[in-house]
Amino acid sequence: MTNWEKDAIQFREDLDLGVFSRRHDLQDWEAWFAPYDDAIYKFVVERLHPDDVLLDIGAGDFRLAAAAAPRVKRVYAIEVFPELVATFLQQAGTELPRNLQVICANALDFPFPADVTVGVLLMRHCQHFATYYQKLTSIGAQRLFTNARWHMDSEEIDLTLKRFDFDKAPDGWYACACGTVGYKESSTDNNIPAAGAIHEVKNCPHCLATKEIHKW
Ligand SMILES: C[S@@+](CC[C@H](N)C(=O)[O-])C[C@H]1O[C@@H](n2cnc3c(N)ncnc32)[C@H](O)[C@@H]1O
Repeated sequence: MTNWEKDAIQFREDLDLGVFSRRHDLQDWEAWFAPYDDAIYKFVVERLHPDDVLLDIGAGDFRLAAAAAPRVKRVYAIEVFPELVATFLQQAGTELPRNLQVICANALDFPFPADVTVGVLLMRHCQHFATYYQKLTSIGAQRLFTNARWHMDSEEIDLTLKRFDFDKAPDGWYACACGTVGYKESSTDNNIPAAGAIHEVKNCPHCLATKEIHKW
């Protein structure tokens, strides 16, 4: 057991994480806090611009939000788990940066502020990617840093890109606005997927199967 696991609230005997998850419509491992490798936070922080307004969705112990605050105009950091929020605020005390706004709420319910330019969704087990994607694009956010689509890899998504409908996309790797990734192969040859550009698409086979047709 690592140090953070020893102290992790999820492992506390008096806590029924299932009840909490169901109340908040969180599925799979979504309600679990676990930090990632430092390289992931570095990947995000190094790509921020001084005039960015960042929205951190599922801020965990706020390590990314705190590292980002000195580098951007403003950070909104939303975390659903009250004890993570309380612990961070207690630790920060009066040192809490003025431009770091801590929000204890469910990001599925919370209206995203209109001035956000960049979203951060570091949540490998995210089951609501499409909802967050839609909420960010509807307020005009321009970029999204996430590991929710490729899981072991992080990416910067250009939210302003025009997306191909899946059936019009060229063969090759694709990443959909619903969060699904895969390899499109129209020919019947069983070739090993080639590396190359990843096509940003909408309305992929998963969207069609779940009848979630999007106008993205
Ligand atoms: C795997 S942890 C990652 C935390 C943080 N993003 C990081 O990279 O250090 C995911 C976090 O997202 C939070 N979370 C999941 N769904 C959420 C939601 N709908 N609204 C707010 N927070 C959420 C969980 O409580 C957990 O703390």
